[in-house]
Amino acid sequence: MKPWENIHAVADNRLQPVAAFNRYQTLQDALDMEEEATIGFQSLNGLWQFRYFHTPEEVPQNFIELWKSLNEQIEVPSCWQLKGYDQMHYTDVLYPFPINPPFVPTENPTGVYGYEFDYEVNKGERAILQFEGVSAYFEVYLNGEYIGFSKGSRLESRFDISEYLKPNGNQLIVKVVKWSDGTYLEDQDMWWLSGIFRPVRLYKLIDGEDLDIQIDTQPQEGYEDFQLSVQIKHTKSNARLYLYENGKRIREVNPLIDGKSLTTILAPKRWTAETPHLYTLICEIEGKDDFYFIPVKFGFREVRIIQNQICINGVPIFLNGVNRHDFNPKNGLVVSREQMKSDVEMMKTFNINAVRTAHYPNQSYFYELCDEYGLYVIDEADLECHGFENTGVYDWISDNQLWEKQYVDRGVRMVERDKNHPSIIMWSLGNESSSGQNFTAMYGAIKQIDSSRLIHYEGDKQAAYSDVYTTMYTNYEKLEQLGKLSEGRKPHILCEYGHAMGNGPGGLEEYQRIMRKYSRLQGGFIWEWYDQAIEIERDGETTYFYGGDFKDTPNNSNFCVDGLIHPDRSPSTALYEVKKVFEPIKTELIQENKQLKLSIQNLYDFIDLSTIQLELCYLNEEGGCLFSKMKNLPAILPGEIRQFPIETFSVQDGTQDIYLRLRFKQQETGHLVTENQFLIQKKKSTEPHFESAKFKVEQEHMKLTIQNESSKAVFNQVTGLLETYAYQGEVFIQQGPRMTLWRAPIDNDMYQLKEWQETFFLNKLSEQLRGFDYQETADGITVSVRKYVGALNQGWGYEVELTYNFFGKGMLNLFIEGKPKINCVEIPKMLPRIGFEFQVNQQLSEFSWYGLGPRENYSDSKASAFMGTYHSTVENLHVPYVFPQENGAHMNVEYAALQDGKKESGWKLSMNPPRMLTIHDYTKEALEKAMHSDEIEKSPFNVLTIDIAQSGLGSNSCGPEQQEAHRLKIQPFVTEINFEPMKREEKQDEH
Ligand code: GAL
Ligand code: MG
Repeated sequence: MKPWENIHAVADNRLQPVAAFNRYQTLQDALDMEEEATIGFQSLNGLWQFRYFHTPEEVPQNFIELWKSLNEQIEVPSCWQLKGYDQMHYTDVLYPFPINPPFVPTENPTGVYGYEFDYEVNKGERAILQFEGVSAYFEVYLNGEYIGFSKGSRLESRFDISEYLKPNGNQLIVKVVKWSDGTYLEDQDMWWLSGIFRPVRLYKLIDGEDLDIQIDTQPQEGYEDFQLSVQIKHTKSNARLYLYENGKRIREVNPLIDGKSLTTILAPKRWTAETPHLYTLICEIEGKDDFYFIPVKFGFREVRIIQNQICINGVPIFLNGVNRHDFNPKNGLVVSREQMKSDVEMMKTFNINAVRTAHYPNQSYFYELCDEYGLYVIDEADLECHGFENTGVYDWISDNQLWEKQYVDRGVRMVERDKNHPSIIMWSLGNESSSGQNFTAMYGAIKQIDSSRLIHYEGDKQAAYSDVYTTMYTNYEKLEQLGKLSEGRKPHILCEYGHAMGNGPGGLEEYQRIMRKYSRLQGGFIWEWYDQAIEIERDGETTYFYGGDFKDTPNNSNFCVDGLIHPDRSPSTALYEVKKVFEPIKTELIQENKQLKLSIQNLYDFIDLSTIQLELCYLNEEGGCLFSKMKNLPAILPGEIRQFPIETFSVQDGTQDIYLRLRFKQQETGHLVTENQFLIQKKKSTEPHFESAKFKVEQEHMKLTIQNESSKAVFNQVTGLLETYAYQGEVFIQQGPRMTLWRAPIDNDMYQLKEWQETFFLNKLSEQLRGFDYQETADGITVSVRKYVGALNQGWGYEVELTYNFFGKGMLNLFIEGKPKINCVEIPKMLPRIGFEFQVNQQLSEFSWYGLGPRENYSDSKASAFMGTYHSTVENLHVPYVFPQENGAHMNVEYAALQDGKKESGWKLSMNPPRMLTIHDYTKEALEKAMHSDEIEKSPFNVLTIDIAQSGLGSNSCGPEQQEAHRLKIQPFVTEINFEPMKREEKQDEH
């Protein structure tokens, strides 16, 4: 039997799993905890010899022959598919081979790795070779001798290599096989990648003992004092235990009796994600002839369900979480320490307090960071067999006793390695693998090792064994219902929601509102943290590839590009939205009589607000500060709402809108926790002043030209479109406005598309000119254009009337009225947009607006957008989604300016009422056509779209559609736009 198809063998000669810790020779080293100072530490990362084979059997059996044949080189850690071997392939659910467990394809890519090293061990010492992650099955050979094998890609494997070690010139061979019986358990939605993808190292057990340490903390009544329990297993040595805080010894811990020590610690600082206080236990191990130190960082915290709620140290918590895969756009599964640190720091910056390690254990270092920075973790076993779902026998192996050992192994190894991390509050049995006896067995095995944490498994729909109910992408109605169920129910979380694919998700605020409303709903985890797209250089440009781009079939296209951060690590709009929705400080403005009151609610679970500074500022619409004040907040307690009277402010002249802006910052660092804005005073409405002017009107064939000494408008009398509008010889409008009901589809439109495109042809509008007249008025000229606009084969459409009033100094007032005309039964339930497109002069590359910003915003995704005057360039208003799609809109724009780079000429537009505006240097057709960011064909003009409205974003790529209020219906509209040339600024005399 091939060992990689033998379900009864999860490993051969692999050492027992133990907690992640290092041994040090001196106390100081132990306190510093530098990995490099570990006794006998030697990193085996770097360049290895390599050779790629098409089947494991093809690998020469003779060690020397094999060693000599390894004539290529590869970096370790890496994924060989990203180093030019084998084939990149992305599938969400499908196994890329027949389902015939435990058998896998005979043609089975195999990478043989060779590494030569020197390593000395003394008598009594053991040398441990440790792999943090190898995908998937691998065998280890040293100096021609077989050492052992292991399975379980995202789990640690250790081998004792002492027996065959020589001081110099050791030849290590690792044979890595892509498909194994274990692959049936590794069907996560991600790229199929192989190789030694996590670090490899050597270290020593100087007394030969492979001991293990388990720390537990149990609160005593009142949660003041804790009992610290330390267990040291698999040892005959003596140990003295000391408790350290910030590098200082604070006390000795009671001695071990039968391997266990129990000590009451009075009033320790407790660990929570908001107060990540860590202590270090230093174990001084006294072996036969040796003495060494093991440091273990831990925290005092308890996880428990109290009255249907997940509580940390007796207090119910709320999870503002994300799902995180190990991913790097250049290196696939290989994630550096720097990147992990940056992930954790970004999460903290964006008000995220929890992370689910979807869908497998991460490197140990990641949990160290979560302990230190404060993130609650759901640590998930490396287990998913999603592809079975399509066979109709989803529980094929999950409910088959023959596989029990494999399931249990994956749970146990995770728990043994990670058991001392205070950040981990739940173990997850895996993802999308149906349910069955192997999960109950795994549950039991985990609880035996560690009963101090909760167990999570979404596939256990009835929460028969899972300690919490958990669902994914639950729609709002269902979630409300779940919130209302309370009697005897376990807590409920959303292990995945808010699918961040492309532009979106919309509707996060509604999720938060519902989850905050019901006590048994305790938050959830956004899907997902990082776009899983592969970075490619072509024609000197960087772009990103997804499923299918490597000629991989079948594939799930860009379904892996659904993160809150773009591949270049810049935060997406959605991440800013998440930050605001997850804000820990909620504010409301209350007006009582003449007094303004600010209500501040502390949504942290543990800390008060005394470390927060409030920067309160009255601003005009241009961002000018009229009054500001800093104030350190008092100790508003968790959950508490307090009201404060604040100074009112008003201005007499009323020429601008006045806002109150509140910014809550960390006093010490200035870090912005959250902000809010309230409109305080609306400006007085003013009628625009139009100067009268005389125009010359010429009709020539199809054209109607209206001009005087400063401005010129040319209409096509057949189409009714404006073909030129210019002032002082500078063209502004080159064509337009054309009505549109279409947007370049966003990923969240994917399930609407068929109907939109093939039933209602919303992307195939045509116009029928019904009337074109002009008339001289006392002040200028009025052109009125009447049209019928409809889509291919549709019995419904719009009667649109555009009235152009031309005045002096280049001013144009455009009034548009649209009336739906429905002469049929079948009409669309939702429209992507109702808008008007103008082609405008591309020289006007600077864009400013008074509206919502600074980032793009849509009706169900604008919590993080505030009213203000913003400046950008047309180019920068493009949001570079990996899969190009509608982007960059700004709502509530009252006025905007388009100017040239030198700001010498330009146009001002005022919208009445305020509208949604988008401007790009490409057409929406070009955007729709492009499959990758570098393929968007630029247009020779800019496209300005003024929307009556757009539908919201929703979350329908995976989740609920737009809520009713964010679904745009066929509706009548009127809108008015004023165009006005901007004065050239007088050149300042520089001398
Ligand atoms: C979930 C699954 C994730 C991912 C997501 C869609 O069902 O657990 O792994 O596939 O859907 O992006
Ligand atoms: Mg899946």
